[in-house]
Amino acid sequence: MSEQASARPSGARKFIVGRSSDVADGGCMIVTAGGREIGVYRLGDGFHALLNRCPHLGGPLCLGQVVTEVFSPVPGDVRGNSDRRFVACPWHNWEFDIRTGQSYWNPKLRARTVPVGVEAGSDVATAIADGRAERVAGPYFAETIPVTLEDDYIVLTLRAAPSAR
Ligand code: FES
Repeated sequence: MSEQASARPSGARKFIVGRSSDVADGGCMIVTAGGREIGVYRLGDGFHALLNRCPHLGGPLCLGQVVTEVFSPVPGDVRGNSDRRFVACPWHNWEFDIRTGQSYWNPKLRARTVPVGVEAGSDVATAIADGRAERVAGPYFAETIPVTLEDDYIVLTLRAAPSAR
């Protein structure tokens, strides 16, 4: 796909990379803009973009499978939460939140025993909503890129690349 760039006063450049209809819900379109490969995702009504480079060891992150958060309100009842979608890197399966780039995986932590019990997923969701429990974010982020819609066109806004010395 060809790219079309326009200069922005802040030094950021916008690239028109396709029509909104080019990406199905839950799908990904990999484009090249500003010399970088970027995966553009459509999740419901929103578009999100990630650099196609895994922060772990540089794998082609956006070639990975899109997965949905899974929870179980009671044992034996497994459900998907389509509000939280992740891409699983094809090299080592680290998962990154498509909306934020956040990974919840940290290989540097040593495993140790932890008390464990079984709780209903609805209770856990309530605890998270009430602030009594929280997801533990890992230290890694995939780089996110702002995506906007201008008429029917998907537009990426990239920061200016650092100048070579
Ligand atoms: S390179 Fe992506 S998980 Fe290792």
